[in-house]
Amino acid sequence: MSEHVTTSEASEPTRRDFLYLTTGMAGAVGAVAVAWPFIDQMRPDASTLALASIEVDVASLEPGMSLTVKWRGKPVFIRNRTPEEVQAAADVQLSELKDPIARNANLPADAPATGADRSGGQGKENWIVMIGTCTHLGCVPLGQAGEYNGWFCPCHGSVYDTAGRIRKGPAPQNLAIPTFSFVSDTKIKIG
Ligand code: FES
Repeated sequence: MSEHVTTSEASEPTRRDFLYLTTGMAGAVGAVAVAWPFIDQMRPDASTLALASIEVDVASLEPGMSLTVKWRGKPVFIRNRTPEEVQAAADVQLSELKDPIARNANLPADAPATGADRSGGQGKENWIVMIGTCTHLGCVPLGQAGEYNGWFCPCHGSVYDTAGRIRKGPAPQNLAIPTFSFVSDTKIKIG
């Protein structure tokens, strides 16, 4: 009988247990209250959202010239290709390419890496807009350089042609083309 009473008493929460429980709950509520401002800070603010897309004026970019802009923290190459550079890219057969996929965010995922599908589109074949990050390990390739006079990545020797397609070296893919459009004849919206 006395054994039974002892067991029953042991299973009852003591006043001290109750205090622990109460304190524990307050701690959990406190953690949520503290976590919320951090989560709230992680939301993009208005200035970040504004950078989701940028407009670039390319009026001063003569054929053969290029510029690099920063978009979402990455370099973006914009090049106004000469007719010879456009032709050189168009003359390449898909079978010669290491990566025959266009990698163009404006086209279906399986679009082929023709000179046209890597360009600014119909009537804008001279323009090329690409993320300037080597698809090997992320270095920034040099423009108007390399065996094909396209881009050359000095880090490990990847060579891209005038359409930004990987032709030699360790990089596995063509330079990626971001979403972009011409909002006027001389203005490109990226993103
Ligand atoms: S990062 Fe460009 S070749 Fe390695």
